Amino acid sequence: MEKIISLCKRRGFIYQGSEIYGGLAGTWDYGPLGVALKNNIQNLWWKRFVLDREDMYGMDAAILMNQNVWKASGHVAGFADPLVECPKCHMRFRADHIEDVDGVKHCPTDKTILGAPRMFNMMLKTNVGALEDDSSISYLRPETAQGMFVNFKNVLDSFHPKLPFGMAQIGKAFRNEIAPRDFIFRVRELEQMEIEYFVKPENWDGSFEEFRKEMWNYTKDVGLPQEMVHELEVADGDRAHYSKRTIDFEFDFPFGKSELYGLAYRTDFDLKSHTTGSTVDLSYFDEESKTRFLPHCIEPSFGVGRTMLAVLSSAYTEDELGGETRAYLKLSPKVAPVLVAVFPLLKNKPELVGKAREVYTNLKKELGRVVFDDNGNIGKRYRRQDEIGTPFCVTIDFDTLGEKPELLDTVTVRDRDTGEQKRLSLKELTSYLRDALI
Ligand code: GAP
Repeated sequence: MEKIISLCKRRGFIYQGSEIYGGLAGTWDYGPLGVALKNNIQNLWWKRFVLDREDMYGMDAAILMNQNVWKASGHVAGFADPLVECPKCHMRFRADHIEDVDGVKHCPTDKTILGAPRMFNMMLKTNVGALEDDSSISYLRPETAQGMFVNFKNVLDSFHPKLPFGMAQIGKAFRNEIAPRDFIFRVRELEQMEIEYFVKPENWDGSFEEFRKEMWNYTKDVGLPQEMVHELEVADGDRAHYSKRTIDFEFDFPFGKSELYGLAYRTDFDLKSHTTGSTVDLSYFDEESKTRFLPHCIEPSFGVGRTMLAVLSSAYTEDELGGETRAYLKLSPKVAPVLVAVFPLLKNKPELVGKAREVYTNLKKELGRVVFDDNGNIGKRYRRQDEIGTPFCVTIDFDTLGEKPELLDTVTVRDRDTGEQKRLSLKELTSYLRDALI
């Protein structure tokens, strides 16, 4: 983890939130390459689950919602973790993260016996408007899901979809975690990609299985090694208050196997709760059977940050190349922030720089994620691109300009994983890269 965190900072993927003020626990800022990686991860998700389907409706609901949403959903009463406080050092811990020794829990810092746990609500509270009283309370949403449930009727009325259909959303969520930890694994400001998929009650298990497969397919889309992903059937008593069945997708993170995604069968819990809470009828009329009922819901839920951490940690590789050890990110081209880096061999030769700029401009038009780099010697440039996971580097040298006439208009293409270099003509360069990358 230390190596990944340090690479992320050094190369502009992820920085500590509010770093120059000493940070703010559980917050991280995404730098230029982090944003690029995150956008690729989100675009692949949106493509698989929204663009490539006919039954999905995209949403972008407000983060702040009427407080009654969270009363009805059960979050005000029940979105809480057990908290214990050390009577000596006053550090606070999540009780379920500390092991019992002979029936008692001890402070991990000074070994004092900890008191009884109390439930700590994880929603971040705020007041909306100038008045700070109970009527102005609002919460930064702890999941994106509720923004979709409260818009269920709007989508029904605007689009008249037939069951089964889903709503999908990517957005921020906030949890006042007792113990944020492991870099971007458990944070207080997070991003989720969620689907609420509505079905006839008797059909829930077919859709549950369909999304189970689609979740595996998405882990392939972002290039996660399949042997590092595992399913866990969550036992009765361990599931969230709304779920009748949950499968956690777990991943072998550097600190151990932990939750990556969740797939839950939320029944009609949410539509029923919001029908009661809002007194608005959220039922669906089925033309075929001429009956009116509350649809049931299957919810695949994905953390963006956890996907990034899984992608980064499984891609991080150390090997030996040309007698030197190197670290590189073996990223799938589908998520790599940069696909191709174009270099002039020397910075101070205008003829090389001019030709390299021409190659760069052409490739950028075709492949989009292409950068130009003339900073430092060529070995350093290769290392830098290896570290950010760029699959190919293209170098323009004097032979490109015809120093050896038989090599006129050819370039060197270097493969990130093997370090092997090929000489290719400019005519075949774009199609070679396109075939290898897309
Ligand atoms: N709407 C359902 C829901 O929110 P969840 O299991 O609490 O379910 C879903 O969260 C996903 O969101 C998790 O599988 C994880 O990927 C991500 N997630 C949850 N809490 C997180 C946190 N504190 N930091 C980073 N990601 C988190």
